[in-house]
Amino acid sequence: MQEQLLNWYHKNARDLPWRRTRDPYKIWVSEVILQQTQVVTGTAYYERFVERFPTVQDLAQAPLEEVLQAWEGCGYYARARNLHAAAKQIAEDPFPETFEGWLALKGVGPYTAAAVSSIAFGYPKAVVDGNVRRVLARWYAIKEPTELWLQTTADGLLVVQEAGNWNQAVMELGATICTPKAPKCPECPVKTFCKAYQSGKPTDYPAPKVR
Ligand code: ADE
Repeated sequence: MQEQLLNWYHKNARDLPWRRTRDPYKIWVSEVILQQTQVVTGTAYYERFVERFPTVQDLAQAPLEEVLQAWEGCGYYARARNLHAAAKQIAEDPFPETFEGWLALKGVGPYTAAAVSSIAFGYPKAVVDGNVRRVLARWYAIKEPTELWLQTTADGLLVVQEAGNWNQAVMELGATICTPKAPKCPECPVKTFCKAYQSGKPTDYPAPKVR
């Protein structure tokens, strides 16, 4: 299954600006923005932000008001405050290269730490976001996956030698094929491995969250 999904990703990955760089700072900015906005809108905000603050040093030295102004449109300003604070924390140091190193920074949670350490440094940690949750729940036909099950299962499936591409491949599948409503199962490169597809009712998984 891993090989088929990675092959699909290599052929079908959208050409997004942060996929053309290995700069940890830019990958970090993109992942923080993408937590809040869809890829289509996020791309424009990303371009604007990294043009204004091209390096972590530029961001660290900028006054907070300028950072908040550049953040306009990206949602929750707390994320911009945290990004700025964390930039100040590490502007003088080399970037962390591990999941744990990123997690130690202000405002950096497990999602961002896994995404940046795997994509920028190949660190073997699986990301779990909303897309990954849905994909995993369908592959295993689990209606109510727990956070522990999700992280354990995601880490178990991770292709260690291609951690960044694997993580992005699962997210990309969830964003483009394995969508919440009307998933495009006929086009799915891994449908033969999918228990929800086999059940004939893929959208039964995961069950809607009860609030
Ligand atoms: N959503 C958030 N980050 C992403 C990435 N790097 N690739 C695809 N979807 C994403």
